[in-house]
Amino acid sequence: MEFRRLGRSGPRVSEVGLGTWQFGGAWGRLDYETAREVVRAAHEAGVNFFDTAQVYGRGRSEEFLGRAIAELGIRDEVVVATKVPGEWLRYRDVKRALEGSLRRLGLDAVDLYQVHWPACWENIPVSETMRAMEDLVGEGLVRHIGLSNFPVCLMEEAQASLRREEIVSNQLQYSLLVRDVEKELLPRMRELGITLIAWSPLAKGALTGKYTPENLPEFKDVREGDPLFLRENFLRIWELVKALREIGARRGKTPAQVALRWLLEDPLVVVIPGARRPEQVRENAGASGWRLRRKEWELLDRLSRAVEIEWVTY
Ligand SMILES: NC(=O)c1ccc[n+]([C@@H]2O[C@H](COP(=O)([O-])OP(=O)(O)OC[C@H]3O[C@@H](n4cnc5c(N)ncnc54)[C@H](OP(=O)(O)O)[C@@H]3O)[C@@H](O)[C@H]2O)c1
Repeated sequence: MEFRRLGRSGPRVSEVGLGTWQFGGAWGRLDYETAREVVRAAHEAGVNFFDTAQVYGRGRSEEFLGRAIAELGIRDEVVVATKVPGEWLRYRDVKRALEGSLRRLGLDAVDLYQVHWPACWENIPVSETMRAMEDLVGEGLVRHIGLSNFPVCLMEEAQASLRREEIVSNQLQYSLLVRDVEKELLPRMRELGITLIAWSPLAKGALTGKYTPENLPEFKDVREGDPLFLRENFLRIWELVKALREIGARRGKTPAQVALRWLLEDPLVVVIPGARRPEQVRENAGASGWRLRRKEWELLDRLSRAVEIEWVTY
């Protein structure tokens, strides 16, 4: 497993982390024992970076992750990231929300505290939220500050509001199928030295090669109604998925490993694929420790640019 620093001053994390949204139940019910085995498999595969959020199952994901880390006795070896929802960004709410997270995670401090999304309906100034975040660092309850789903202007404002700390990361949707971050965010983050933590890096499983246009289940989880999994869109991405399969077959890798590797060829990126079973974690960890050849990277780049997903579905 290879490691990358978050931002200029953050912790060193495995370039493949583990996302734990699926522990919250939105992907279908997942029991604690399975969650613990997923965490164990991740740790054994060299993963040290675990991402959760308060909203994942209203704290359930945080509880499962914290309990698993405690039972496995790995607290000192891992970097734990959680998030405060965009509705709770007033000064007092940020602090109160963190108390709940620490309690559920069973931790004294969170390694990376991220603002899950910017305040949308509440009109809370970014500077107020950042003052709370910085005070939490001062109190020793948060080690590093991160953002999520922040556009360039708000990311810059967040950084400018901080007096002592720096933003180490912005967690954003990024995969071979969703590349909008490349338009504005990624270039600016490169200038500022802010790491991009890629969420849904497997496009919720669409890039793993296990779903085909002939075999598209009727999802009863977060993917229900997701445009990516509508048959007409899935047919559009099929050339790309076939290329992931072919490159994988040539290099002794799986399509999921190739799709994650494509993102990791950018040194500013770390990925946090979700996994519902230990085998998936082990497989995803195998995206680290090798390189795509330039021609392979370019082919995937070209095929992915040619995909035009129809997001407007009604
Ligand atoms: N900040 C945000 O707003 C935000 C939003 C979304 C997600 N996230 C974070 O990003 C993490 C990952 O995103 P995500 O879970 O949405 O999508 P993802 O990582 O792209 O896809 C995860 C799903 O793909 C399937 N899968 C994973 N590894 C596989 C493998 N090796 N082979 C075959 N199938 C595999 C699994 O579902 P099946 O087996 O059922 O197909 C799994 O639940 C989340 O856990 C969360 O931590 C953050």
